[in-house]
Amino acid sequence: MKVGIDLIHFATADYYLGLDTFAAEKNIDVDKFYIGIGQEKMSIAPPDEDIVSLAAKAAGPILDQIDPNEITAVLFATETGVDQSKSAGVFLHGLLNLSKRCRVIEFKHACYAGAAALQMATTMIRANPKEKVLVIASDIAKYDVDTSGEATQGCGAVAMLVTESPRIMVIEPGSGYFTDDVMDFWRPNHRTTALVDGKYSTKVYLNSLKQTWDHFTDQTGKTFADIDYFCYHIPFTKMSEKAHQTLAKKAGVKLTPEEFEAQTLPGQIYNRLIGNSYTASLFISFISLLDNLNENIENKRVSFFSYGSGCVAEFFTGVMQTGYQSALMTAEHKAKIAVRKPLSYTEYLNFYHQTEMVSENIEFAQHNKGPYRLAGIENHKRYYQKS
Ligand code: HMG
Repeated sequence: MKVGIDLIHFATADYYLGLDTFAAEKNIDVDKFYIGIGQEKMSIAPPDEDIVSLAAKAAGPILDQIDPNEITAVLFATETGVDQSKSAGVFLHGLLNLSKRCRVIEFKHACYAGAAALQMATTMIRANPKEKVLVIASDIAKYDVDTSGEATQGCGAVAMLVTESPRIMVIEPGSGYFTDDVMDFWRPNHRTTALVDGKYSTKVYLNSLKQTWDHFTDQTGKTFADIDYFCYHIPFTKMSEKAHQTLAKKAGVKLTPEEFEAQTLPGQIYNRLIGNSYTASLFISFISLLDNLNENIENKRVSFFSYGSGCVAEFFTGVMQTGYQSALMTAEHKAKIAVRKPLSYTEYLNFYHQTEMVSENIEFAQHNKGPYRLAGIENHKRYYQKS
């Protein structure tokens, strides 16, 4: 049975902070960001944007193309949870008015949860081909001001409709996975920002890639040469370049600069402009690849490396389907990035601090342009608006 991604769409916030503005404020050479970590802009969520409103914006254009009553499950991956008990997916389910005959659950393990939800969705459909599963990966990456992580913030959500006989990509059975109990990045329940041992985290990421590759090749018998394009979890684009160098070296492959660029660059373009979006970032890289390649990649194989700090990682592959181009939403994606408004450093700090001043009763000023927004909190209950 062929199971995989039938439709895929992403959303990000309406605002960004340029790393040129950031560098000027901090008195740092901007090339540290443009070249050193390979980032240009960070999407910044205003106080009336959260993972649920981002997820609704990502899913809306998919639901417009199908009968929403056909959705049998919502698997919502995030590490920016809005409630310790109620899953973000149920807020989304209400906002999108989905059928009550639907299962909804939240998935968590740092940036890995999106890949876990996708794999779970494929398993559900292999068990019952009538299922149509909406997989969501939605996150807002936030670090303390004046820490090394501050330049690697961002936000975004990806919605994927996972079905039998998908139009875009079949996810192939067989993958390599790896877990190790390490403290490279974490966010205890009492904190709104992540803590990170930055340099160590990059080492653990690369080690996890090597471990998952070994397991993947053992499991599937596939080699580096069997893969045409490589998508990585992208906390910042330089990390994915280091990952690809590491993988090529491990596989004993020497790539020309042109081959290296062709295999990785199209999958970095959106991430360079959005920043880290944790669970969503790997799939934004996939969308970036699809939207920015000039050639037809029908029947080509794409690999995915998902890394979630702490750490859990997985390496898996998919094959592009004939006619996939007609299912893409390239124009919408490009418009979402182009319409964002730049923030000054002071405006960014205002948004940053306002999102922390959440209380049991609050009405948010409208910054989020819609079509979905977090309108306020009343008696500790979040309420959303659809425009
Ligand atoms: P830092 O101390 O700000 O930067 O930390 P640096 O001094 O290491 O410089 C970074 C690079 O820029 C270096 O290159 C410099 O040489 C270069 P490298 O040695 O790495 O090749 N550089 C310059 N290049 C050109 N012109 C210049 C210049 N100046 C310096 N003028 C760090 C960087 C990544 C550690 C920091 O940003 C950080 O802590 N980020 C957050 C953690 C992170 O993203 N880790 C990635 C792996 S873990 C992961 O991906 C999981 C995660 O997404 C969370 C989850 O799973 O939920 C984070």
